[in-house]
Amino acid sequence: MFISNDIKYVGVNDHDIDLFEGQYIVKNGMAYNSYVILDFKVAVMDSVDVHFSEEWLDNIEKALGDKIPDYLVVQHMEPDHSGSVLRFMQRYQNAKIVATQKAFSMMQQYFGCQFTDKQVVVKEGDTLQLGNHTLTFTMAPMVHWPEVMVTYDSYDKVLFSADAFGKFGALDVEEDWTDEARRYYMGIVAKYGLPAKNLLAKAEGLDIKTICPLHGPILNENLGYYLNLYKTWANFEAEDSGVTICYTSVYKNTYKAVELLKDLLTKKGETVVMYDLARCDMAKAVESAFRYDRLVVASPTYCNSVFPFMGDFLTRIAERDYKNRVVGFIENGSWAPTATKAMQTALANCKNLTFTQNNVRIMCALDDQSTAQVHALCDELVSLKK
Ligand code: FEO
Repeated sequence: MFISNDIKYVGVNDHDIDLFEGQYIVKNGMAYNSYVILDFKVAVMDSVDVHFSEEWLDNIEKALGDKIPDYLVVQHMEPDHSGSVLRFMQRYQNAKIVATQKAFSMMQQYFGCQFTDKQVVVKEGDTLQLGNHTLTFTMAPMVHWPEVMVTYDSYDKVLFSADAFGKFGALDVEEDWTDEARRYYMGIVAKYGLPAKNLLAKAEGLDIKTICPLHGPILNENLGYYLNLYKTWANFEAEDSGVTICYTSVYKNTYKAVELLKDLLTKKGETVVMYDLARCDMAKAVESAFRYDRLVVASPTYCNSVFPFMGDFLTRIAERDYKNRVVGFIENGSWAPTATKAMQTALANCKNLTFTQNNVRIMCALDDQSTAQVHALCDELVSLKK
């Protein structure tokens, strides 16, 4: 893939992986991106997962021709990117490592050494002159670890954005960018909305023609689209109008209630997506909750609380600072319904959530009373549309 005359792609695709970061389903694999900048001095931008060290070093060798690298820039120390640093330094013993002080401390923790005589420690605004290319380093702490920085090349107007603007999926598989980038962002970065916002504010002052992230495709067209989406996500704003219904159901009685709600909402022209939390990809359900402006959670009462999958889902969205949304509740409790109370408690520390007033209580199975409550919840959800 072409980036510029001087910047070459040397990353790898991982189709062996089952769960990225030990939890995210990646049916189309994962890409660990790395780049070489060829100039009077040569810089390699980040390494790759340790299982792909040799393939990566081969890619670098092909890109280098008769040159050798002067620098390895380490923007992020998570092992999907730093896993091959040690192997690189064994191969290119004269190269220096450019990174933040925190990143060098993490090298000590990961590798038992921090390459003391090879260090180029950088901080906010520091530059590295390669020849025509001047690299400027911008700190991006907590996007998505504390040592993270991004790098701007003013010659080719390229932003090397670390984990930001990444997505799930290997680069040799065609798939839509937005859905997998959103699932990636909501899973991995969402907690750090404010740092992401700060990074976007810094990026606004730059003339960017190309974004080179550490995962997913290189972005070189319609950059406003990607930047605007990131702005929406970082501000915890809903991207679309619609209702996400997340439910668990043991004997399909709670399910019948959410099916009815879905039908009623759909008839009123609403976009509705439903997730059975016991069977879906939980990261998809989380992504959808952040994507739309309204959420309904429906659960049987279980052990005087909620069904376990619902507990897991609510913990995940609360951990990611879920806010600025409407949330409706459906509970089922055959003799002592407590699920709504437990679900509201799980979201109690989330800011700016509007809980619906017309919630549904099912005692075993839908009856006239609870059916009327579903209708009322539907009407309230429609009235709260943004
Ligand atoms: Fe792709 Fe935070 O590492």
